[in-house]
Amino acid sequence: MITTLDNIKNTLIEDINQLTGGQLKQKYLSKDGVLTKLFKDIKDIEASQRKEYGEQLNGLKKDLEETILQKESNINNEKSTVSIDPSAPFDVNSSKDKRPHIIDLKGSSHPLMEELEIILDIFQRMGFDILESRQLDDDFHMFESLNFPKGHPARDMYDTFWTDENFVLPAHTSTMQNRALRRFGPPPIRVILPGRCFRNEATDASHEHTFYQIEGIYVDEAISMGNMQATIKEYLEQYLETDLEIKMQPAYFPFTEPDVEFVISCPFCNKKGCSTCANSGWIELMGCGMIHPNVLLAGGLDPQKYSGFAWGVGLDRLVAIKRGINDIRKLRDGDINFLRAL
Ligand code: DAH
Repeated sequence: MITTLDNIKNTLIEDINQLTGGQLKQKYLSKDGVLTKLFKDIKDIEASQRKEYGEQLNGLKKDLEETILQKESNINNEKSTVSIDPSAPFDVNSSKDKRPHIIDLKGSSHPLMEELEIILDIFQRMGFDILESRQLDDDFHMFESLNFPKGHPARDMYDTFWTDENFVLPAHTSTMQNRALRRFGPPPIRVILPGRCFRNEATDASHEHTFYQIEGIYVDEAISMGNMQATIKEYLEQYLETDLEIKMQPAYFPFTEPDVEFVISCPFCNKKGCSTCANSGWIELMGCGMIHPNVLLAGGLDPQKYSGFAWGVGLDRLVAIKRGINDIRKLRDGDINFLRAL
């Protein structure tokens, strides 16, 4: 029996080197643990050997308990000396070999926000006010005030998310048109309405469930499609830093009449065809049109006296075109290497 103890001692030494305190406890001291079982066997030991056996077993147990205690206190000491910065990016605290990252984590604005600043700057120089859209809105601003009465089939074009309390995550920044007309009226009204939008999308390289739009509205007496064409073209040429040809194609939106799809010549290939324009030479960039009289009325303006135009363009899409990004989902991945390389 004493030889059995010697064998166990040898395995125990190996285990002490390899197992954690918890694992040792489980293997040797738990209800079915190796040492516990040996204690139960004491009664079967020959009387002449029982004393020595008992002493050896007790000694083993004491040594093991001490070792376990030591292992556990080592872990606690280690834990308490690792300093955690709760405000740091998630990968900084997690493992030691990632810590050198700290040195080059300087912090910077996201490319989407940088580009938004550039665009807002262009419009501010053109005399536009700025009002950011909301990230939770209601049926009136999402649909009703934009000439989508209840049951209107065009509501289906905007499959988005609703809360149980009947609030909506806006599917476009046009939700702000009514507020802008009321807040900045009487005309002239020139406002840019940037903001985050959400759609219940099957995502792919050019569709995301969360994205930014930049809405613009311009209302005054005797405003025409010609003013719309010139304003949007000027803005895009300044932003993309190149001359553009433009086309206007028919589209449908309940809140404009007429409704237009604004198309630009591809700034990369000069209409020859490339991967950015899907080899067509042209890029359909945004919806726009003359503001529907019902939308002006809902905003407290007389459509006999005033007219205006509005547009809504996807910021992510525009930035992807400008910076040559082939998948807009990358803009929201949070991949720091991708963002740094931009
Ligand atoms: N809100 C539209 C969309 O997201 C885009 C749009 C079209 C905005 C025409 C406008 C507009 O202001 O006049 O699909």
